[in-house]
Amino acid sequence: MTGADLTTLGIGGKFLDLLVPEDGNELSLMMRRIHSEGRSFSVLGGGSNVLVTDEDMETPVILTTSMKSVRINREGERLLVTCGAGVALRDLMAMTLREGWSGLEFAPGIPGTVGGAVVGNAGSRYGTIGQSVHSVRLMRPGGASTEIGGEDIEWGYRMSGLQREELSIVWEVAFSFRESDRNAVLAEAKRSAAIRGMQPVGRRTAGCVFMNPPEDSAGRLLDLAGCKGLSVGGAVVSDIHANFIENAEGASAADVAKLADVCRERVSDIFGVRLRFELKSIGMSLGDCGG
Ligand code: EPU
Repeated sequence: MTGADLTTLGIGGKFLDLLVPEDGNELSLMMRRIHSEGRSFSVLGGGSNVLVTDEDMETPVILTTSMKSVRINREGERLLVTCGAGVALRDLMAMTLREGWSGLEFAPGIPGTVGGAVVGNAGSRYGTIGQSVHSVRLMRPGGASTEIGGEDIEWGYRMSGLQREELSIVWEVAFSFRESDRNAVLAEAKRSAAIRGMQPVGRRTAGCVFMNPPEDSAGRLLDLAGCKGLSVGGAVVSDIHANFIENAEGASAADVAKLADVCRERVSDIFGVRLRFELKSIGMSLGDCGG
């Protein structure tokens, strides 16, 4: 399997040591082995917010998408839904909408897995996933699992305190949803879904490349800086929304990184605003490509 197979951008070299645990026990054994060999590793979920190096990768990559268990417990009017990190956010949202449970109405169109969404506190202007997290189970480097309450995790704009746990993996998340009126939940989700009309849906992208600066929109600044339509190799800044880079035609990861850098420089030169990457990378770093 390659980065190209496993990411929405469709870019990236071969994973020479791809590990695909199906549950916490398997993950624990894998992490114990990696730890005892003194190696590092990368984690890949739905591949929707990540740029994978063009080079073949020897470093182990742990793919979470087969950890898909779902357990439901009712506690009064609250539903505790415990999901493996690999459950698609789209599937979890569909279940909550079907049942009339409130909490994920903001999520239509957000790709990726539950694990990635929680670590990056995915969201839209209507809400974020951290607000519904009851607790998270983390697998530590030696293979021991610990649980952290949602209220003990720092949640910010496209960030969570879980990002500081670099050598640990979120392998299970318990969500707390509120029983609500099905029509109201559906109406709210529809309102959120309308936003996606202004985004390049169905094209090969990794979502927004940059985070919004405080009180502004990265897309707006990139657009004003004339970035729409700029290209490097097969990578092009979307003509629909300037904060999306499309893999239009056989782009390499280096093309995307270079194009992102060019855009960042433009915004910096014109507006004096240094955009921060929302896009994550595996096997390479972003923001050091000159530009
Ligand atoms: N705009 C432009 N030109 C563009 C793009 C946007 O002028 O090319 C203007 C829009 O007209 C609007 C403003 O900028 O006035 C804000 O744009 P938009 O409503 O598209 O929201 P955004 O701030 O660009 C954020 C999130 C999206 C999320 C939407 C809707 C970030 C970096 N982006 O976009 O999240 O879907 O709000 O909630 O926070 C993502 O994180 O990957 C992502 C796509």
